[in-house]
Amino acid sequence: MKIKIAPSILSADFSCLAAELKKVEAAGADLIHVDVMDGHFVPNITIGPVVVKYLRKSTKLPLDVHLMIEKPFKYIGAFVNAGSDMITVHIETVTLKELAAIAGGLRKSGVKLGISLNPATPLGRIKKALPLVDFVLVMSVNPGFGGQAFIPGALKKIKQLRAIFKKDIAVDGGINNFTAKLVRNAGANVLAAGSYIFGAKNTKTAINSLR
Ligand code: DX5
Ligand code: ZN
Repeated sequence: MKIKIAPSILSADFSCLAAELKKVEAAGADLIHVDVMDGHFVPNITIGPVVVKYLRKSTKLPLDVHLMIEKPFKYIGAFVNAGSDMITVHIETVTLKELAAIAGGLRKSGVKLGISLNPATPLGRIKKALPLVDFVLVMSVNPGFGGQAFIPGALKKIKQLRAIFKKDIAVDGGINNFTAKLVRNAGANVLAAGSYIFGAKNTKTAINSLR
């Protein structure tokens, strides 16, 4: 499967996001991973649709919007209108009925839907959601902050998921040149990485080392 690298702007310099997007775009990134946090589902607050709207103007790359928020169904429309190309919601924040409604809406808008699960959430929780989504985002840290250590339990989850799910499997949290190899061998093909890419001296070398 094609490997896609998704730099997470959580570790970028927020005072010059347009320049940061240009930097990773020039270095060969495939997607821009945008972490949306509400201070309820996770203990941190980041950005909302207004920032996504201006990110949209600053890059040609698809915007991969990771919603770490409660009641995501209330905000999906705003993130679609802001120009998201992919939207991920957490299984911990939706019912299956809500997810089905979100899937229907996004299909009409041409936006891809992802489902994510926290490290403590068993794979069984997303089984019924799989037919509704375009990709799965496996969390390999507890969401909320960049720069945390990779939780190895994610590898077993990715392996088990790969056996039953043929579409994109993304992984998010603690990805560097070492853990990238592990998650790829387990079956993941989309790598979200924040601190490893934005903290690197040479962005292109960092992205190439993940690829
Ligand atoms: C964590 C976010 C991640 C984060 C990853 O809550 O969802 O996307 O930016 O950061 P690193 O790659 O530094 O672990
Ligand atoms: Zn993320």
